[in-house]
Formats: sequence, structure tokens, C-alpha cells
Amino acid sequence: MTKKPQLTTSAGAPVVSNETTKTAGERGPALLQDYQLIEKLAHQNRERIPERVVHAKGWGAQGTFTVTHDITDYTCADLFSEVGKQTEVLSRWSTVAGESGAADTERDVRGFSLKFYTQQGNWDMVGNNTPIFFIRDGYKFPDFIRTQKRHPKTNLRSPEAMFDFWAAQPESVHQVTILMSDRGIPVSPMHMNGYGSHTFSMWNKEGKRHWVKFHFKTQQGIKNYTNETSEKIIGSTREKYQEELYNAIEEGNFPKWTMYIQAMPEEEAGQQSYNPFDLTKVWPHDDYPLIEVGELEMNKNPENYFQMIENAAFSPSNVVPGIGFSPDKMLQARIFSYADAHRYRLGTHYEALPANAPKNSKVNHYHKDGAMRFFTNDFGNPDAYYEPNQYEGPVADFSVKEPPLRIDGDADRYHQDEVDVDYVQPRKLYEMFSDEQKERLYKNYAAAMGPCSDSVKERWYAVLEKVHPDYAAGVKNAVDSLDTDVNTVPITENTPIEDN
Ligand code: NDP
Ligand code: HEM
Repeated sequence: MTKKPQLTTSAGAPVVSNETTKTAGERGPALLQDYQLIEKLAHQNRERIPERVVHAKGWGAQGTFTVTHDITDYTCADLFSEVGKQTEVLSRWSTVAGESGAADTERDVRGFSLKFYTQQGNWDMVGNNTPIFFIRDGYKFPDFIRTQKRHPKTNLRSPEAMFDFWAAQPESVHQVTILMSDRGIPVSPMHMNGYGSHTFSMWNKEGKRHWVKFHFKTQQGIKNYTNETSEKIIGSTREKYQEELYNAIEEGNFPKWTMYIQAMPEEEAGQQSYNPFDLTKVWPHDDYPLIEVGELEMNKNPENYFQMIENAAFSPSNVVPGIGFSPDKMLQARIFSYADAHRYRLGTHYEALPANAPKNSKVNHYHKDGAMRFFTNDFGNPDAYYEPNQYEGPVADFSVKEPPLRIDGDADRYHQDEVDVDYVQPRKLYEMFSDEQKERLYKNYAAAMGPCSDSVKERWYAVLEKVHPDYAAGVKNAVDSLDTDVNTVPITENTPIEDN
């Protein structure tokens, strides 16, 4: 039998006992000098960090991205530089609204985050399983999230708040339609697509810019649960996704996605009937076909979930040369928000944690001290601690700058109030649904909207009416008949068993 390693203090000294408190006499009391007892209890008290303010419940894995098609006409990003090139990736999928203990198979949008550890630094693709979003102005995000979280008095989630807000933001109907459709409850993270959702940009080595959208299409097929199945699952396990994902990877059934981009030449923006930087809109495939790029395979469970997944800090601000932002103002709000959340949630030097530290490029910066400065980047010369300096300290490289972007217009606060074009894409989506899909859409709405007041219901029906009269009528009928159903459910079915 191999000898077990010696237990030590965090300062490396051997520990005498990990079970018995040092006491004055057999019956106590405890001696304050039993420092290891204090240390053990103190550490336990610090085991939790703030959960993510949104997307708190998640599941993650490690894997590889392989380039299968040449897109160097669009980008000079090193990770896409040649067919066959592989890059390590960290992924995290999540629900949006639930807390970190929420059940996995709840109806919600799913987050789809990827960190590519490229040779030119980390590129984070922080998207969702939907190609669009509920709102298009960062000002509205905190209010939107408030409607998804708990009511301040009841401490319960509030359908009234959700539909009240959405009814006042009709551009949300596109995303709400997806949320209430079959895709609102994926069978697992492996059975859903991922989308960058925003418009981003790419530029090639000649300095030509394209606007791009990112798509990751599941090779496992899109599979979803109905409300009824999901309720049964939650009754037996709240951790369905974690179980499915973890076991699939342990068994060697590695989930895969095919990556595509849609690309729009810079000068074409503005020629569409919709704003190509509006996050509530897709780019129709007919206009901007999918261009295949590569394959993502997630093939390793992290050795320590907390270290790699809870500590992971994904941020849309993490881009690499050849990939850039777009004028989408929601995107700009996110570029600020994530790194700020990480400094609060993980600490000043969160980028040096194992999940976030670049694996394939060297870190050279002049950020210095602060809590948890557990890395060195003194560049071999302690005098090089400011910039510019006469020593061999690192210097910026102008050659990686993105090509200039012409911006014009007056600085102002431009409303993007409801416009007819907001209803075009949701209408197309609704018309794509089969009759069975539409019936399930109506029933899902009924389950979600049932508790809402009549005034909120009527306001939402008015939004649906503008998408399609059949859509509004279908939802209204389902909500009305749900009310009847509820009243006719025999009371005995829900009667608790008395303790006698
Ligand atoms: P297309 O017919 O070319 O594309 C339709 C796309 O819709 C499909 O490729 C699929 O995208 C997606 N889709 C299919 N079934 C569903 C469903 N039940 N729920 C949600 N999405 C579904 O037409 P368009 O490109 O003009 O898009 C039509 C509508 O489809 C859009 O208005 C939008 O609502 C929706 N859509 C469009 C996407 C796009 O990037 N153009 C992406 C996803 C949805 P996928 O394979 O990515 O799942
Ligand atoms: C998580 C802010 C819109 C996808 C987060 C977090 C914040 C945030 C603060 C927690 C970060 C952390 O603690 O690690 C915002 C703001 C938005 C916005 C301010 C709008 C202005 C979006 C959109 C998408 C998205 C449009 C998808 C297209 C995600 C995902 C996560 C996340 C996937 C979880 C990341 C992870 O797995 O760690 N968001 N968000 N968010 N957000 Fe957003």
C-alpha cells in the first residue's frame, strides 16, 4: 500500500490532528492556540464567492477548436490562420435567471460562452443559444434582469413583471417567441446551438473589414423538452445537464459543434431594411449565407469545477487582432460590464487565475500590485515598472491596430422605438413553426402568462397581434382555456397527505 502524503498547514508544516481540538482537560474548553481549528473554520467561511449576477447556474468543459475551412479572406486572427490549426477552448453554458442552485431544465435562454486560448491572447465568445436578444439598449439591461429575478416583497419570480416589461418593449417579441417555443428548454447544453448574437467585425491582412455574426451549430441535433417532461425531470433531478454533460465526456462521447460565420462587407451596412447592428434582428441566411469555419469538440471535464468554471471570467471585451466590435451600442455596454463584474466577483487580478490566464501567449502588462498579486511580470528588470522607460520593458505594437472605421452623425440619444420592421422577423419565425409547434408555443405561453393580470395580458396580446393575428388568437385561447382547466382540476389531486 502506498504511503499517504502528510497533511500540512497552508504554510506547509505537518498537522498533528485533523479531528481533535486541543482542550484544557478532557472536557474542554478549547485552547485559542489551536490555530488549525481556527484556520479550518475560517477557510470554510470563505468558500463561497458572489454568484454571477446573471447566468449563475452553469455547466462547463474543456476542449479543442479545429479550423476546417480557410477564412483568411475575412480575418487575420491567428487562430484561423491555417486549416488544421487547433486551439484550446474552455466552455460554460448557463441559464440566465436562476440562482446557482436552480434546476437545469427550466424554461430560459441558455448562455453559450467560449474562451479560445489563442497564441495572440484569449478570445471570448460570450453568446446565447438564441441569435438575438430581448432588448437593444444597455440602459434597459438592469431593468430587464430585475423582471427575471425575485420580487422584492414576495421573494418569488414574477410573470407579471416579465410580461409588463416585454409589453412595453415590443422589440422583445422576437426573443420571447423563441423562449416560449420548443427551444425554450433544451435537452442539454449539447443539444443546442450557440450564437454570438451581436454583430462583430473581422479584418484581414489587407485591412478590409467585414461585419460578422458567429454561429455554432450542434452536431448532436437540436433536442428540447416539453414543459411536462421538464417538470417530471425536475421532480427527480435538478442537475440533469451536469449529469448528462459530465457523463458524456467521461464516456468519450464528446459533444461537437460546427462553427460558421455570416459576413457582410463593411460598406453594405445600411443597405438592409433592418439595422444590421440591432441585437433584436438576425441576418437572413438567404442574404448572408453561413460560411463554414471549423469544429469545436469539448472533450475534458475540468479536474476542479470551481477552479475552472466558477472562476471563469468570460468577457466580450476579450478580442484578439483580426476580430473586433461593431457599432452595436448594447455590445459597448457589455464591453464595460463584464470585466467590472469580474473585478467584483473574483478580484483585481482575476485574469491570472488558471481558467483565465492565457495558455498560449505571454502576459506582459504594467498593472502592478493589489490583492492576490500571485504572478510576476517584472520583465527581468525591476526598474521597468512604468512606461515609457529606457529599459527592456514591453511596448505596444501599432501593427495590430484595426483598420479605421468611418463614423458620422450627431452625438445624441437616439430612441429606437417600436418600428414595423420589429415584427417582420418574429412573423417569419412564427410562420416557420408547424401546427404542432404552434400549439406547444400557445400552451407554453399559457403556463407562463397564466398568473398575469388582465391588463398585462391584453397589452401582450396587442404586441402578438402585430406579429400575426393567429399568434395572438392562439395564445389568448390557450390562456383562457388554461384558466378553465385550472378551475376544473379536482382538488384531491393537489391535496397534501395529512400526518395522522
Ligand atoms: P432561413 O429559413 O434561412 O433560416 C431559418 C433558421 O431558423 C434555421 O436555419 C434555423 O437556424 C432556425 N430555426 C429553425 N427552426 C427554428 C425554431 N423552431 N426556433 C428557432 N429557430 C429555428 O430563414 P432566415 O434566415 O430568414 O430566418 C427566418 C427566421 O428564423 C428569423 O426571422 C429568425 O427568427 C429565425 N432564425 C434565423 C437565424 C439566422 O441566423 N438567420 C438563426 C436562427 C433563427 P439554426 O440552424 O441556426 O437553428
Ligand atoms: C453573464 C452583463 C447582455 C450572455 C453576464 C454577467 C454580467 C452580464 C455582469 C456576469 C459576468 C460574470 O460575473 O462572470 C450583461 C449586460 C448586458 C448583457 C450589461 C447588456 C447590456 C448579454 C447578451 C448575451 C449575454 C446580449 C448573449 C448574447 C451572457 C452569458 C453570461 C453572461 C453567456 C455568462 C458568462 C459565463 O458563462 O460566465 N452578463 N449581459 N449577456 N452574459 Fe450578459
